Amino acid sequence: MPTRNIGRKLRDLGRWLRTPISRRRAMRRVAEFHSRQRPLDEVVQWAMAFGTRGRFRVKTIQIASEITALAREVDKISPQTILEIGTSEGGTALIWAQLASQRVITCDITPPGPRGALLTAFPPPMSKCRVTLLTGDSHSREFARRLERELNGAAVDFLFIDGDHSEGGVEADYELYRPFVRSGGIIAFHDIAERQDQPGNEVQHFWKRLKDRGPVEEFIQDRNQVGFGIGLVRV
Ligand SMILES: C[S@@+](CC[C@H](N)C(=O)[O-])C[C@H]1O[C@@H](n2cnc3c(N)ncnc32)[C@H](O)[C@@H]1O
Repeated sequence: MPTRNIGRKLRDLGRWLRTPISRRRAMRRVAEFHSRQRPLDEVVQWAMAFGTRGRFRVKTIQIASEITALAREVDKISPQTILEIGTSEGGTALIWAQLASQRVITCDITPPGPRGALLTAFPPPMSKCRVTLLTGDSHSREFARRLERELNGAAVDFLFIDGDHSEGGVEADYELYRPFVRSGGIIAFHDIAERQDQPGNEVQHFWKRLKDRGPVEEFIQDRNQVGFGIGLVRV
């Protein structure tokens, strides 16, 4: 057991020592991404495989056609402010940072670590968009108040709910953050497909209840697919 601990500590130390080199490499990749304007489907490809690794890895696990269809809808409303619950490795935040003209606020219960520096560099060079990373439990009222302070009166144009996938968790995020979305804005949920195989993925149950309340749009590549699927409601 102590040998295993020493092994882990040495690995952590090695990683820590390599951080400045890894950061430089990752920032070069961001510069390459920004070297020309990219159409949305290309941005999505980068979000799915950005090409950085370890603590600088940027990735989203999505079906390309689904997330591209959502991004096109978001683009149509010319969003100023985008709010995302569930940053993970920043893949979707990369997409939102190409669309929002003012602000992307992305939240996760896990701190971003060194990847944070990369995420704040996501907006295009001439853009006025700023990326803000918030760490905390999105279900807590205290966190919602913090978010309200961050927004400072600005309305959210697009809210992406992709954090806690339990039925109660998705519902809590919807109820807490929906009031921040402006009329005409969009709220989207990931993993709404009826068949889900990941334990704890219960978004589809909440989605079914939401569908009964009013009109919704769905981006699901294949009705028989297991997992994924994006649901959209307009406010
Ligand atoms: C599916 S990942 C998000 C993926 C990301 N949107 C993408 O596609 O690039 C879900 C994230 O939600 C975070 N999460 C889970 N429960 C949360 C909570 N209560 N508050 C904030 N974040 C939470 C997890 O830590 C995880 O990083």
